[in-house]
Amino acid sequence: MPKCTIDGKEVEFTAGENLIKVAARAGVEIPVFCYHPGLSVVAQCRMCYVEVEKMPKLQTACSTMAGEGMVVKTNSENVIKGRAGTMEFLLLNHPLDCPICDKSGECDLQNNSFGYGNATMRHSEERRTFVDVDMGPVIEKNMNRCIHCTRCIRFGDEIAGIHEMVAVQRGNNIDITTIDGKQLQTEYAGNYSDICPTGSLTLKDFRFRKRAWMLKKTASVCEGCSKGCNIEVQHEGNVVYRCVPIENQQINKFWMCDEGRFNYRYTQDPTRVLEPMKRDAGELIKASWDSAMESFRAEISASKVSFLVGTDLTLEEMATIKEFAGLSKITVEHFGTQGVESTAQDGPQDTILKMKSKTSNLNGAEKLGIPAYSGKSSTDTVIVFRGGRAVLPAIKAKKVIGVGVFLAADTAGLSLVLPGFSFTEKDGTVINHMGIEQKLRRAVLPGGRCKAFSEVLMLAMNKKALAGAVS
Ligand code: SF4
Ligand code: SF4
Ligand code: FES
Repeated sequence: MPKCTIDGKEVEFTAGENLIKVAARAGVEIPVFCYHPGLSVVAQCRMCYVEVEKMPKLQTACSTMAGEGMVVKTNSENVIKGRAGTMEFLLLNHPLDCPICDKSGECDLQNNSFGYGNATMRHSEERRTFVDVDMGPVIEKNMNRCIHCTRCIRFGDEIAGIHEMVAVQRGNNIDITTIDGKQLQTEYAGNYSDICPTGSLTLKDFRFRKRAWMLKKTASVCEGCSKGCNIEVQHEGNVVYRCVPIENQQINKFWMCDEGRFNYRYTQDPTRVLEPMKRDAGELIKASWDSAMESFRAEISASKVSFLVGTDLTLEEMATIKEFAGLSKITVEHFGTQGVESTAQDGPQDTILKMKSKTSNLNGAEKLGIPAYSGKSSTDTVIVFRGGRAVLPAIKAKKVIGVGVFLAADTAGLSLVLPGFSFTEKDGTVINHMGIEQKLRRAVLPGGRCKAFSEVLMLAMNKKALAGAVS
């Protein structure tokens, strides 16, 4: 393999790799703003200056490909001066907003200013100012903080497939905006906020809610469709504040859709059922686990029962339910997305990430040999096990019992509800549409008096364990 030298270290590279990637392998960090590994290279911000032997001027590492025998310095006096000069220019119009900026704590501008800028500046002119702009349901723009790196423009053009962000005017008057000031159209708008290296494109859902450094981060998998995008659930004090994509080149690259990003909201919906509920005189009323389990057990032993499992359950949950059903010869079928009952019917919903199956584990249900709900088996009672996203089909039965995650609006036809864990509250395995097994990780604890399916089934089998063990 060809080799070059970075700060005295010899590094191997493959043809076409830029100096940022090669330096990273040598443990050398080169500061960037406009460069993003998922977007085209424009070498606009001039932050990634390096010195290359035999080249008279500083070079931008993002647009310079490594060459055989190339000798690169990333910390020479010229490089240090060049980067400090770039920082001084970039900060000419930047407000001292860090104390009130959502990006603070994870801001490239803040980090690079601290690492490579000067502590003082010579600028004494007034800074230009803009008012915040509402860019639609996802993004609020603060143009005062923009450094015109054009990452957002390139994201729209190259990834979201929509030319909606543009730069108008030039020089001191430059403004990054949508064409004709329209609201953002893409269903992937949250990524604008992720890739913006400053706090210019803020996520409305997260704005002013929590300082970034207070968040705990749990790597997990989005349950919004069968793509299985890799995400980080960011939370604090048992509250989820946001979900952001994490890189997986095989599945979602660097991105996620807005539907998946904001899907976590239902898990914290104030109408979510968090206590066992029994229908009495037409009304669902709170019950103890003791009495709810009595009703559940009576139903299983007295009537003809079948099980419906959501394709939003983990493999482990489905396997446990199937095993339990096998003991009493109870039929098990799956449900999830209307019109997508098998992986054969699944497929891309768009050309970016979204899949037609709106649950994460249709593939897992098929691998376990669970057939789709046909509506043909006539049983007195149907027990529905649901993770929270699977859409309930029209069920023909005298009674329907819900176990798992339900909002008040989902409970109209249910005679009994036993509350369970949502995707941010449990560990487990899901299999995406490509057949890749991935792990959900528990980020927060469920509120109220929720129980895992395995515990509900154990209590259903063992009356003695129930007595005094639950309240
Ligand atoms: S809004 Fe953010 S991503 Fe877009 S050009 Fe400005 S700094 Fe870059
Ligand atoms: S494409 Fe699917 S898995 Fe990916 S973020 Fe969107 S809903 Fe989630
Ligand atoms: S990161 Fe290289 S010029 Fe912006």
